[in-house]
Amino acid sequence: MSTLYKGISSLALTGEKFGDVLVVESAALAVADGKVLYAGPASKAPACDQEIDLGGKSVIPGFVDSHAHLIFAGERSEEFSSRITGKPYAAGGIRTTVRATRAASDEELKANAEKLIAEFYASGITQFEIKGGYGLDVETELRSMKIAAELTPHTTFLGAHVVPEGVERADYIKTVTGEMLQAVRPYAKWIDVFCDQGAFSVEETKQILEAGIAAGLKPRLHANQIANLGVIPLAVEMDCASVDHATHLSAEDIAVLSGSNTVVTLLPGAEFSTKSPYPDGRRLASAGITLAIATDCNPGSSYTTSMPFCIAVAVREMGLSPEQALWAATRGGAKALRTEGGSLEVGASADFVVLDAPSHMFLSYRPGVQLVSQTYIAGRRVFERQ
Ligand code: NIG
Ligand code: FE
Repeated sequence: MSTLYKGISSLALTGEKFGDVLVVESAALAVADGKVLYAGPASKAPACDQEIDLGGKSVIPGFVDSHAHLIFAGERSEEFSSRITGKPYAAGGIRTTVRATRAASDEELKANAEKLIAEFYASGITQFEIKGGYGLDVETELRSMKIAAELTPHTTFLGAHVVPEGVERADYIKTVTGEMLQAVRPYAKWIDVFCDQGAFSVEETKQILEAGIAAGLKPRLHANQIANLGVIPLAVEMDCASVDHATHLSAEDIAVLSGSNTVVTLLPGAEFSTKSPYPDGRRLASAGITLAIATDCNPGSSYTTSMPFCIAVAVREMGLSPEQALWAATRGGAKALRTEGGSLEVGASADFVVLDAPSHMFLSYRPGVQLVSQTYIAGRRVFERQ
């Protein structure tokens, strides 16, 4: 069964290289068996079994959210409110969510994640990563990773989020690199460490990533959100797929990242919600660094599921062009997860978003407006705005 989506005012096609976006006007998209059969000018579209007229809406590839903490319970609106009146963000707030997460049942944790995933679909996200990291004991990290693995193939073990209350630092690192790692190993694809002030040092990060790699996991990092501890050269040397946040980078860090295989994942929702300075995305892009944009959805530093919001902030505050931001939120996310996606090339999974707007540019031009009209995964509609 093939379907032709016609009446597309503009179709944004993402290329292989950072920022490459080709906009086709008066376009059509053909889908067969969940895959892209054709994406280009309507005049050259193939005949299909059925046709759907989108009536002048625009189409973009589905967003790939490479950084999301969906396994948690509770909320931290009071902490958010105290930041607005001047209290700085600190890693310690994570422990509040740890208490609530440990007390929640599997059913509660899964239902909360599923609610957030429904919001992801409504925001145009078609692939997403899920991290643990709010259990910080063997039992709860294992429960978290089992639930994550039921919801996505892109699962990340983040036992090294912070050292939990009541545990000696050295003992905890021993657990993370030993018993906890062995328990979660069947459910985790990636290993992540929060390498930052109040969390883990560069030396500890190295030790934890090495243990993860030895257990068959692939490395990625939370780094340089609060301070620059100097982990970037190590991240590149260890072939981390991505360093995320990267709010504070030195000129040397930028030189090391430039031309490496390590993506820098910008998390605009985190700087927004923690009232922190934004990294200079334009400078990173000019240095030839591949950028991704992700939601960082979590109850502490970025409680948003809206990729359009993150794009608008990245354009307004980080200096990315609308095309660079679109690329970073689609293909960039896929690169940060070292997976396919974020593209409408022939043969790709038909993951796409219909925008109630003439072009992708409106994502940042009309901030805060729900422009996502429909979201499709493998040709199947998972969201339609009523
Ligand atoms: O990516 N920075 C570390 N982890 C999360 C925040 C966790 C929290 O505050 O609950 C982040 O921003
Ligand atoms: Fe995060």
